[in-house]
Amino acid sequence: MKKHNYSAGPSILTQEVFEKSAQAILDFNNSGLSILEISHRSKDFVAVMEEARALALDLLGLTGKGYQALFLAGGASLEFIMAPYNLMKEGGKAAYLDSGTWASAAIKEAKTFGETVIVASSKEQNYNHIPKGYTVPEDADYFHCTSNNTIFGTQMKEFPKLNIPIVCDMSSDIFSRVLDFTQFDIIYAGAQKNMGPAGTTLVVIKEEILGKNGRVIPSMLDYAKHIKAESMYNTPPVFPVYTSLLTLQWLKNLGGVAAIEKINNEKAALLYNEIDRNPLFRGTAAIEDRSNMNVTFLLNDEAHKDTFDAIWKAANISGLPGHRSVGGYRASIYNAMPIESVQVLVDVMKALEAAV
Ligand SMILES: Cc1ncc(COP(=O)(O)O)c(C=O)c1O
Repeated sequence: MKKHNYSAGPSILTQEVFEKSAQAILDFNNSGLSILEISHRSKDFVAVMEEARALALDLLGLTGKGYQALFLAGGASLEFIMAPYNLMKEGGKAAYLDSGTWASAAIKEAKTFGETVIVASSKEQNYNHIPKGYTVPEDADYFHCTSNNTIFGTQMKEFPKLNIPIVCDMSSDIFSRVLDFTQFDIIYAGAQKNMGPAGTTLVVIKEEILGKNGRVIPSMLDYAKHIKAESMYNTPPVFPVYTSLLTLQWLKNLGGVAAIEKINNEKAALLYNEIDRNPLFRGTAAIEDRSNMNVTFLLNDEAHKDTFDAIWKAANISGLPGHRSVGGYRASIYNAMPIESVQVLVDVMKALEAAV
């Protein structure tokens, strides 16, 4: 029986995407060949890459606005180094918002390139909120932020208005809500949360910001080279790109980002309402910064842990334990998570209340 999968990533994809991608492994487009054995230069795969790149821009409202979409390898973590390589000048500096473990990992990489200014940090409060009221130095080469902090369950609701490029790690909330995406100059997101299997990273770049930092950039780290090669500079991660395309098609058919945002808001409200109502639980993130993708919560009394764990496991739920740095529970309710599964979790929280 299929589980209600709350994993933070790799994570749930829709059943439709699992079935179509499984079919493509057996026989891709009735070609008599598996997607895993065809050339990435074949007509059929080039069409996949072209559609995936175009659909990503379409869903973000960025078509015809000077942006390019790439599907690269190396995970979101490689972007921690590619962004500075492509944007930071020799002797320049970059501004970072330290809102969580992944933001801090991005800072660590940028430091190998040059001066890194941390404009604000919530580390002292174990990243339980998004820092606000900070000033970004306008002479920085770019500002980097993380829109959704997967581990801590916080999400940026607003972004600073700046005259320097904004780079945003959207790994855990890409395609989940409507934003004016033109405010960003680079958006990157590992596929393994809201798009597909691990193995590819969507990178969306405003082309005009490239080529200005005067560095010699190794080919594989050079966004401009990847754009010129239409995201096929080397053999791309064929299967993750194809599966991501299936998810993007599913999202488009559903009505796009605005349609999924409505559903995501309903799912998050259902769960947060129960966390706030049920006297046995409490949320860990500041209320105004609560993430609609990763919902983090604790038991008020650890003595109920074994009972609760037994109840949710019996309800066929998996992937619920929180990250070790927060403890408790984390329900990742990405786009593909049906509201019915969220209801199952709410029901087990109520069942615990009735049982103790
Ligand atoms: C917000 C965020 N950024 C970056 C990463 C790292 O991604 P990857 O493992 O693809 O390098 C993660 C992984 O969970 C993440 O949640």
